[in-house]
Amino acid sequence: MQVKAVAVGIVLVACTSMALSQGALAQAKKESKEQVRRGEYLATFGGCSDCHTPKIMTPNGPAPDASRLLSGHPANSVVAPVPAGVLTPNQWVAMTNSDLTAWAGPWGVSFAANLTPDAATGIGGWTADQFAKTMRTGKHLGVGRPILPPMPWLPISNPVPQPIPPKGP
Ligand code: HEC
Repeated sequence: MQVKAVAVGIVLVACTSMALSQGALAQAKKESKEQVRRGEYLATFGGCSDCHTPKIMTPNGPAPDASRLLSGHPANSVVAPVPAGVLTPNQWVAMTNSDLTAWAGPWGVSFAANLTPDAATGIGGWTADQFAKTMRTGKHLGVGRPILPPMPWLPISNPVPQPIPPKGP
């Protein structure tokens, strides 16, 4: 009798904890779904694809290649040399390749990074904290080398004046 009661108790506890863990799992799934949606919103709104996605050429110009979203400058793409004397303040301040993933300027040539979750070549091995620090400090992983232009990480303090209404006649 007693053994039976204990067994029933164990089954009940097991069922309750299963229900609990399934609830926690559902909650975690909901949170990560929301995080993914938020990330998609920020990446779209932030225009990350403009530079971090290789392009396909269309009659209207370069368009993001959906099969290589956010994979960065293609490793096998050969970048043409920058003609001498072109990147001067009176001529051009920056140049980009047809993918808009390689950028030449007074800083040299920079290549848009692979932002996919690939652990070896993308940012899959990064923690959320390292990502946030990179974006806030403009340094690789928040501590490494400065991130070059045109990566738009700079938070610039510049209080723009309020509009001035016309004085009237
Ligand atoms: C105008 C072009 C441009 C846009 C837009 C852009 N990036 Fe970048 N990004 C770059 C370039 C170029 C680099 C490489 C710079 C370097 O090598 O120093 C870079 C580097 C990075 C890095 C650093 C990788 C590392 O190894 O340290 C991260 C992270 C990153 N971008 C995230 C983003 C995110 C997220 C967005 C959208 C919110 C974005 N970028 C939008 C051009 C851009």
